[in-house]
Amino acid sequence: MLERQKIDELISNYSDFKIATICSHSSLQIFRGAREEGIKTIGIVQKNKRKLYESFPYGKPDEFIEVDSYADMPVDELVEKQAIIIPHGSFVEYIGKKFDTLEIPVYGNRASIMWERSREKMFRWLSKAGIKTPKIMTPEEIDRPAMVKFPGAKGGQGYVIVRSEKEFYQNVREKEFMIQEFLIGVRAYPHYFFSPFGKSGYQTKQGHLELLGVDRRVESSADEIGRSIAIGTKPKMAFTVVGNEPMILRESLLSEYMEIGRNISESSFDLFGGMIGPFCVETIITEELEIYAFEISARIVAGTNVYPEGSPYSVFYYNEPMSTGRRIARELKIAAKNKKLAEIVY
Ligand SMILES: Nc1ncnc2c1ncn2[C@@H]1O[C@H](COP(=O)(O)OP(=O)(O)O)[C@@H](O)[C@H]1O
Ligand SMILES: [Mg+2]
Repeated sequence: MLERQKIDELISNYSDFKIATICSHSSLQIFRGAREEGIKTIGIVQKNKRKLYESFPYGKPDEFIEVDSYADMPVDELVEKQAIIIPHGSFVEYIGKKFDTLEIPVYGNRASIMWERSREKMFRWLSKAGIKTPKIMTPEEIDRPAMVKFPGAKGGQGYVIVRSEKEFYQNVREKEFMIQEFLIGVRAYPHYFFSPFGKSGYQTKQGHLELLGVDRRVESSADEIGRSIAIGTKPKMAFTVVGNEPMILRESLLSEYMEIGRNISESSFDLFGGMIGPFCVETIITEELEIYAFEISARIVAGTNVYPEGSPYSVFYYNEPMSTGRRIARELKIAAKNKKLAEIVY
């Protein structure tokens, strides 16, 4: 991973900054949020996507940098323009491991992306945080419906459900996988925001946490599977994400969700120096109202896109529409004003 000192150097030479990201995932929200906070933006875009992004007067970036491939980031140009990168899901996926050594200031702690990239690390993190997870099994241990996940799966695509060791070997050829107990319950994906500066929000050892929204992914075919069954077909359960929908939790669940957020946040400081800014935990709530987590996204998630005008939770923290994109821009603005950018950028 790139030395922190290198980024500190770059950022100390910035007299001002712009927010930059790849035009994809949650970029419309990020650009709009920055605009609302009076910060200029740069959209890194492939030629064929430019027309689309230009068509949104309030969602488009102030300027575009066209690239042939996202793997080749225009590093020098971005630094020259005093860019700070906002890493979103597509950004970290398109860039891959090159992300770790990218010589551009990135909002947040880039180590957290390394921890979200590895499923083994992520489960170590969840366990350190004391959070219930689905049981992890070896093929021999499969004694109930289980989900086999492969590394680098894209948006839930390609996972396999098996019910026994035999079914596992019939269906899985891959060498690298993780087998998780298939949990039955309601999925809820809370969007947290950690700030080391803020004075309001849910207190943690290192700062404060805000809950800026909750969503649920809409997945094909899983979420419409009742229709297929009703017409007499036996479709394969699949989890390809096609969108998100808003969700509100029973208020009595909030306290446990804030504790989950606090534990994940605090353990991130023990493990790798702390996760800064937005993150999300993918959870399943059982009928006993027990909450299990199976994934951490250590950055803005696409589910926040359902709340560009703020959410049914953000209104309890802010007297103005506050999306996660805008919250990021505000945080950077506050940090820049107080000469503390180096504390939240790496
Ligand atoms: N242990 C589990 N039990 C039940 N459903 C699960 C489990 N893990 C994942 N899922 C379902 O599969 C989807 C994709 O899984 P996830 O691990 O989040 O993949 P991705 O890396 O694509 O986000 C989830 O949104 C959820 O619907
Ligand atoms: Mg996921």
